[in-house]
Amino acid sequence: MRTKFVAGNWKMYTNAARARDLAGEVAGKLGSEKRVAVAVFPPFPYLPAVAETLRGTVVMLGAQNCYCEKEGAFTGEVSPWMVADAGCQWVIVGHSERRHKFGESDFLINRKLHAALEAGLRVILCLGETREERDKGQTERVLGWQLDCGLVGIEGGLLPHLVLAYEPVWAIGTGLNATPEQAQQAHAFLRSRARSRFGNAADRLIIQYGGSVKPENVASLLHQPDVDGALVGGASLQADLFLAIVRAALPAT
Ligand code: 13P
Repeated sequence: MRTKFVAGNWKMYTNAARARDLAGEVAGKLGSEKRVAVAVFPPFPYLPAVAETLRGTVVMLGAQNCYCEKEGAFTGEVSPWMVADAGCQWVIVGHSERRHKFGESDFLINRKLHAALEAGLRVILCLGETREERDKGQTERVLGWQLDCGLVGIEGGLLPHLVLAYEPVWAIGTGLNATPEQAQQAHAFLRSRARSRFGNAADRLIIQYGGSVKPENVASLLHQPDVDGALVGGASLQADLFLAIVRAALPAT
């Protein structure tokens, strides 16, 4: 009942020509396929060019980050209104690289989420525990905290504009994906936490898995009842790998 959603986070990779080519190849090969939702998240400078490439295709566009204000003296930051103006429908907030490499707090992430929704964007909110937290048995405590803080002030009516991405920090870029059972456990926990807050609307909430997703491991992850798609890093930079992941998310016919 939940359409699977596969997103490619290009991180700080590609250049203008490569970004256009990659987006064009993904969109071209996907054709009019609508049984799975697909989005790409290029670096900021390439958003307008990729928006142009994707115009009229089924592939959606998003930014990897945004600031929490509409405009002002915030040198180097990008407002979610600018992201929308550049042709994006989506933005990622709370990615673990933002949390851990740039020190973003749950408070800031919540403010970004509010601003992005106000700007009319749909938001992928990323959450995930570190290796140390998992080893100490704190996974659910961390996920619960990140979810509760991330969603402060968010009403149930906004839930259709929100996607969660469970990305265990130890699985990102390491080649060490979570097992399907670990992913299912975390996703079921997040859904039940969302249910306690938003009721049955949480049944329609898309929860993606991210962390070393590849064509070889995606099917067993997507087979889990609460895994509704994938947020793909490295493998999204090669059209054939990304498309193989997208195909694995198609409903069985
Ligand atoms: P990798 O797929 O490269 O592990 O990255 C995952 C990720 O961080 C997606 O946002």
